[in-house]
Amino acid sequence: MTDNIATGTEIVKTDDLGAEVVLNNSTAVPKFQNRTSPTRSLLPIGLMRCIGLNRGGVPVLERLPLTEQAGISKSGATGSGSGGDENPPNLKMFEREDWTLFRTVDGLQQKAGVPATRLRRLVLKELGDNALDTGAEIKFGRIDGSPDKFYIEDCGPGLDGTSEQIAELYSIRRPMRSSKLLRLPQRGALGNGLRVVAGAVLASEGSLVVTTRNRRIVLQPRADGHTAVVKVTTVEHRGTRVEIGFGIALPRDADSMIWVQRAAAAAVAGKSYDGRSSPFWYDGAQFHELFLAFGAQPVRSLIAEMDGCTGGKAGEIIAAAGLGRMACNQINRDQAVRLLKAAREQARPVCPERLGGIGGDGFTDDDLYYAVERGTAELGSVKPPAEIPFVIEAWVQKRTSNGEVKFNDALTAILMINRTSAVDELTAWRDSDKDALQWQWA
Ligand SMILES: Nc1ncnc2c1ncn2[C@@H]1O[C@H](COP(=O)(O)OP(=O)(O)OP(=O)(O)O)[C@@H](O)[C@H]1O
Ligand SMILES: [Mg+2]
Repeated sequence: MTDNIATGTEIVKTDDLGAEVVLNNSTAVPKFQNRTSPTRSLLPIGLMRCIGLNRGGVPVLERLPLTEQAGISKSGATGSGSGGDENPPNLKMFEREDWTLFRTVDGLQQKAGVPATRLRRLVLKELGDNALDTGAEIKFGRIDGSPDKFYIEDCGPGLDGTSEQIAELYSIRRPMRSSKLLRLPQRGALGNGLRVVAGAVLASEGSLVVTTRNRRIVLQPRADGHTAVVKVTTVEHRGTRVEIGFGIALPRDADSMIWVQRAAAAAVAGKSYDGRSSPFWYDGAQFHELFLAFGAQPVRSLIAEMDGCTGGKAGEIIAAAGLGRMACNQINRDQAVRLLKAAREQARPVCPERLGGIGGDGFTDDDLYYAVERGTAELGSVKPPAEIPFVIEAWVQKRTSNGEVKFNDALTAILMINRTSAVDELTAWRDSDKDALQWQWA
């Protein structure tokens, strides 16, 4: 093993929390390992900033500036003018509902936090994540070799409900809904994935067919935010298969399946966290939201689902928080915070090592250098803050010429955070005697 990316090779991550992760040969973290001589180049790239939790649990990545622009209301002031106008400023308030942002390519970019050129791969990744979340084997690919039509299928349990209810699930005008509200470190759970899928079909006048539990359901997302059932056919089928066609309004992407490929490779590589959701992964507000989302179920049953809080401990936690028999949706913020603190007294934080990782051989098709860094990020707005463990893994491919590292060598990088593809890209450059990768803002 030689380290020929020059000494001091580093990967730097900065975010608006001031956190910085440096993978550096001069530190104790593993060096990039030159597994063979790299041959391929694909110059990266863009930018990434960690601004908080990514879809519920991962300390990642959202395009905050774009999201800010996407506020659900907008005021336009004409101002009072310079001539001593007696009229007050003409303030107009335009309102639009959140779901309307899923209707256009611009809005989707804002909602999804990726540029239009990445939307196809993001949509396929969302479908792939859902398929992988079932824990079953998944398949994906192009339909009839088309550059615009893809399928993703899993052998999981299939989708509950009538065809109309399934259409609702694939509609942009529905509350964020998820069966995965208990936060896990490897993915989020906002229940937003399928809204992005439906939005992409609507915005590009594409097509959507869902086959599950012996029904083939042709769906059509509509501008009113609902998705219509166009046709239902009886077929023999287990699990869930989604066929999606993108229209030209969503730019073609030569590598549309790259993120779902990586997600599928990561799902079977290395080791992943197999524990329960930890009370350390929610701040006071998120913990309260979690309880509200669980409706009329007893508080105890939800607490008992959490890491370190099972069995008799759940009762002790509820007693320590001064709560009796209450339903999840009856508790107020203060009570939720008391519960959270009491749960944390019983549980121990999950150390980043328990998250496992994909490992240096995770992407065996490529000749890549590998580095890993672990840590814990504090996030959230209501105390106590969430303490989210993370494992950042990076694979870098680098061109060399005659065995020498060249100043303008292109670097290809894959960045996975908690075993999930970072949905943005890296900037790579050579900085004096170092090669560096940095996440930053486009
Ligand atoms: N292939 C599938 N098999 C079984 N259930 C599915 C499948 N795809 C989606 N679902 C169900 O639909 C729900 C909504 O999916 P969606 O992708 O919108 O949200 P999520 O996966 O829960 O969260 P997010 O995508 O924001 O991380 C899921 O929580 C799950 O219950
Ligand atoms: Mg999803």
